[in-house]
Amino acid sequence: MGHTCVFGLGWGDEGKGKVVDLLCPAFDYVVRFNGGANAGHTVCVGEERFALHLLPAGILHESATAVIGPGVVVDPIKLIEELDGLIERGIDPGSRLKISERAHLVLSYHKIEDQLSEQAASSGKKIGTTARGIGPCYADKMRRSSAVRFVDLVHDASLLDRIEQIVEQKRKMFIALYGEDGELDVEAVVADVVRAKNRLVSNICDTTSLLHRAVEDGQSILFEGANGVLLDIDHGTYPFVTSSSTGPHGIGVGAGVSPHVVTTRIGAAKAYSTRVGAGPFMSELNDATGDRIRIAGHEFGTTTGRPRRCGWFDAVACRYAAKLAGLTDIALLHLDTLSGFEEVGVCTGYRIGDRTIHTMPADISSCEQVEPIIEFLPGWSEDLQEIRAFDDLPQNARDYVARVESLVGSPVSLIGVGPKRSQTIVRGDLKNVVGDISMSAPA
Ligand code: GDP
Ligand code: IMO
Ligand code: MG
Repeated sequence: MGHTCVFGLGWGDEGKGKVVDLLCPAFDYVVRFNGGANAGHTVCVGEERFALHLLPAGILHESATAVIGPGVVVDPIKLIEELDGLIERGIDPGSRLKISERAHLVLSYHKIEDQLSEQAASSGKKIGTTARGIGPCYADKMRRSSAVRFVDLVHDASLLDRIEQIVEQKRKMFIALYGEDGELDVEAVVADVVRAKNRLVSNICDTTSLLHRAVEDGQSILFEGANGVLLDIDHGTYPFVTSSSTGPHGIGVGAGVSPHVVTTRIGAAKAYSTRVGAGPFMSELNDATGDRIRIAGHEFGTTTGRPRRCGWFDAVACRYAAKLAGLTDIALLHLDTLSGFEEVGVCTGYRIGDRTIHTMPADISSCEQVEPIIEFLPGWSEDLQEIRAFDDLPQNARDYVARVESLVGSPVSLIGVGPKRSQTIVRGDLKNVVGDISMSAPA
């Protein structure tokens, strides 16, 4: 299998963790290239459930080298906690984990700034971030003078002095902007940096050269996108987005590997739509149907526990994301969640006043004025969770999948019928990659 990217076609939480876990045994490397601990990727194996935030979800497979690329913003303390959590459960990634020396550190002042700026924003302007310090860390990266990279832990003899200066600058800035310093504690920041160095130094390396060699040697790489294309910093529902390039286009920036080598681009989407945090959601259902989807799909955030907003599948937004990403395959998760609905809706266009459009408006006020055009298809009542072959799905479920394919313009090659690894239907060429799921060893 050629180099592959799994990424989100929506506003995150599409089920990327499950898809990465399934594909991972066929790859030598699994690489995170964007975002940070704002991600929460769930993998369910048997009765065990893992939620990965900074480590690639493929870390559960011993055969793969796990890489955190240059474009990821890494909270080292969260990463250490995540590693310790896995070790307690009998999985020690050890030297299988490689952290790019070019990756930036999220430190406690980034998280404080994330919280203070959200608190200070007036209603309607709050982004509803995950409070993981993502935006402030990427902003420091662009600002350059106040950024800290993993390579600094290894090579910068005056790093701790520099950290003290950065913290004092942040204190002045917080007081000026927010009237308080958010209990910024310089000693605690220094202690975190020292802890990061002591614990992670042996994992820090030049992952860019490592991946270049892997490409040259014919080894295979699975890129694991975080967040989703509709949250992309350039192409998402700005400003209600995250601060990184979330689709395959982010691989060049975030992994240092030319995206042209990535020949399979699998976009994960739910059979309906969800969003956490603020921002436009054109097919949102603020009614009993939305509540019913939330309960049936257990739609509560993996990272923050917040209830997710729910709505019908938005084929307009999904096709937009597909075009941006050069989508080759759709992984359609949570088809099981729609069982029992008399009819199932798909948003096929946006009406704004007397205009009908089939593209994503750039401005939020237009997005918010959108009246979705919903096409209803007959639903199905059967429980899908034990079905493993496409032809065994009820006819209406098959017709629904075919409608998604024709509206988005790509084949649905993987269907989720439950959270577990085994609850998956694989179609087409992907069958050769995934192999027999029922026989795959539990992680
Ligand atoms: P990610 O961030 O894209 O990896 O997605 P999350 O892990 O945040 O959220 C997806 C949720 O849906 C998790 O709780 C998964 O266990 C669950 N899930 C994934 N695929 C399916 C599916 O096909 N059916 C059901 N019922 N749950 C699924
Ligand atoms: P995974 O990888 C869902 C959303 C936040 C907020 C906005 C900005 O699990 O799919 P940030 O903390 O990044 O500055 O928040 O983006 N967001 C996500 N929503 N899943 C994610 O990741 C997300 N990462 C960021 O809720 O609306
Ligand atoms: Mg998630």
